[in-house]
Amino acid sequence: MLDGRRILLIISGGIAAYKSLDLIRRLRERGAEVRCILTAGGAQFVTPLAVSTLAGGRVFQEIFSLTDEAEIGHITLARDCDLVVVAPATANLLAKMAGGLADDLASTALLATDRPILMAPAMNVRMWTHPATQANLATLAARGVRRVGPNAGPLAEGESGMGRMAEVPEILEAVTAALGGGRLAGRRVLVTSGPTIEPIDPVRFIANRSSGKQGHAIAAALAALGAEVTLISGPVHLADPPGCRVVRVETAAEMLAAAQAALPAEVAVCAAAVADWRVENYAAAKRKKEPGAPPPVISLAANPDILATLSAAGPQRPRLAVGFAAETENVVEHAAAKRVRKGCDWIVANDVSPGSGTFGGESNTVHLLTAEGTEDWPHLPKAEVARRLADRIAAALETAR
Ligand code: C5P
Repeated sequence: MLDGRRILLIISGGIAAYKSLDLIRRLRERGAEVRCILTAGGAQFVTPLAVSTLAGGRVFQEIFSLTDEAEIGHITLARDCDLVVVAPATANLLAKMAGGLADDLASTALLATDRPILMAPAMNVRMWTHPATQANLATLAARGVRRVGPNAGPLAEGESGMGRMAEVPEILEAVTAALGGGRLAGRRVLVTSGPTIEPIDPVRFIANRSSGKQGHAIAAALAALGAEVTLISGPVHLADPPGCRVVRVETAAEMLAAAQAALPAEVAVCAAAVADWRVENYAAAKRKKEPGAPPPVISLAANPDILATLSAAGPQRPRLAVGFAAETENVVEHAAAKRVRKGCDWIVANDVSPGSGTFGGESNTVHLLTAEGTEDWPHLPKAEVARRLADRIAAALETAR
């Protein structure tokens, strides 16, 4: 099932590196070609000979190796694959990835690659829970780096907790999904994300505080399950999630047109904070501040509701239309009414009151409202909310099959 797929496996320095030897075998059994980079730390735990024997080829260790560079340059090595897998990914390598350091072959390849990356972290529980590691993980997740594990359990030093590298079968499943063979393989999905901006004149506009982090994380999570994702994004300061086709728009009208152009789609997730109003008296030339003149009057007109339009799109209607409700009070009650009013199937409701930290933050507390009822999810990183939602979407499509 991985026939002909080319994996670049980076093995960094942790005791879990022994599992990566088995991972090489299992990947090759499934038809994948595996090239390996072994870091200096990794070579303390497994030998280059074991790695190259199992991989059926040479193992790459040095960045300034003349022999390696003559055979394949390090930039080509980083790109000549379908997926980069980092297993184990140590706290140090995660930090280097998050910070963009390139001081050895592994970190240089990770900085130079334009391929999707899947990491399997492995470390001591205190290193895992350290705010520095958690911040690095959030940075990497926001960039669309996929992750499998770690799991909780006994650790090498006699301690117990989160930090054990995912088991080989779990990594294989994640590799398969990352390569498009996942639960949503072949399913067309559209996601709206970010704010829309509505111009007042050529230099001024009305905007809102949406960062796009949740919507982009959802697009990444759906793509990680193999979906064909069209992400329609308003202006955001985020990297494009890997594996998604990104359509950049500014206004609500452009977002609606792009969403309709992305149909047919089996699923629509409308996470964008679409401006409710646009400026009706847009001025084609910059409005001038004349001395003594009153401030200009800006008149507003209602924008189209993208979620409601998609939910009423007749034969083109996505089988599952998911909306968001950002509320500051009576969150669930208002969201339930919104689900009915918009004609969508699910609503993900969240509290965006000042102090909730939702807008622009890294985590979110949401409620999932479906026709069956309301689920209260715990406070979770946005990437985890995204993964859970993607799982629920996959399960819903599987049931409806
Ligand atoms: O009405 P409200 O803005 O609270 O609804 C939020 C939900 O509706 C979100 O899913 C948002 O993406 C969607 N929406 C939309 N088009 C609009 C306004 C909201 O798709 N014009």
